[in-house]
Amino acid sequence: MKVTIAKDEQNFFEMTAWEIAMQIIKKPDSIIGLSTGRTTGPIHKALAEIYRAHPFDTSQVTFFGLDEVTNVSRDYFGSCYYMLLHEVIEPLNVPLANYIMPRSQTTDWDVECERFEQAIAKRGQVDLQILGIGGNGHIGFNQPGTSFGQTTWVSVMEPWLYERIRTETGSPEGADLGGITLGIKNVMHSKRIILTANGSAKAEIIKKAVKGEVTTSVPASILQLHPDCDVYLDPAAGALLEQ
Ligand code: GLP
Repeated sequence: MKVTIAKDEQNFFEMTAWEIAMQIIKKPDSIIGLSTGRTTGPIHKALAEIYRAHPFDTSQVTFFGLDEVTNVSRDYFGSCYYMLLHEVIEPLNVPLANYIMPRSQTTDWDVECERFEQAIAKRGQVDLQILGIGGNGHIGFNQPGTSFGQTTWVSVMEPWLYERIRTETGSPEGADLGGITLGIKNVMHSKRIILTANGSAKAEIIKKAVKGEVTTSVPASILQLHPDCDVYLDPAAGALLEQ
């Protein structure tokens, strides 16, 4: 893993955004996996600003999000579909046909997992996968304990996230809100991966993921075994790496 610590948080957002832009500029038909959340939201904002200032060809790029909340509407502002549509797809004028997402609602999740995985595979090998990291080391919705051989599946989400989404969507208590996600095996098949984190709350888990034992207890630790994985951090998230 190659670790790069930006000079400040804004520089971290811009640095990562430039990596996505450069990937498209160098290979216009790139297949790029995105993640949602507080880390990647500002990265996407920076990417949209780069595109506005220096427009480049986005007619051939394929974007997908690696996970989605299950059993909520895509119109819900917290759905990954909605976020990536508004943060990346529309600002960059990416054709909707080149935006691949898991469905958020279906009657058969096994079929949907297969459909989503195949929709990406049909385009080819993923050129670049951007990842955030959960406070417990999860990537996508692959929580601690998930097998490294896991392919696309429906997982559970952390209780606090469950509760937030349940409240925001007005879903009843006990509602079946989970996370459909590419598995760790799928993620590891990407040609290149960039793991991103900012803020002091991520410093401990970043140290474990980057320098600790490779273990299913810290899903992101498997990235140590990927041949081309960069770790982009702001100073706060990287603070414990030198010790
Ligand atoms: C969520 C998402 C992940 C994301 C992670 C970190 O659960 N499923 O794809 O990377 O949490 O989110 P944040 O950047 O908001 O901390």
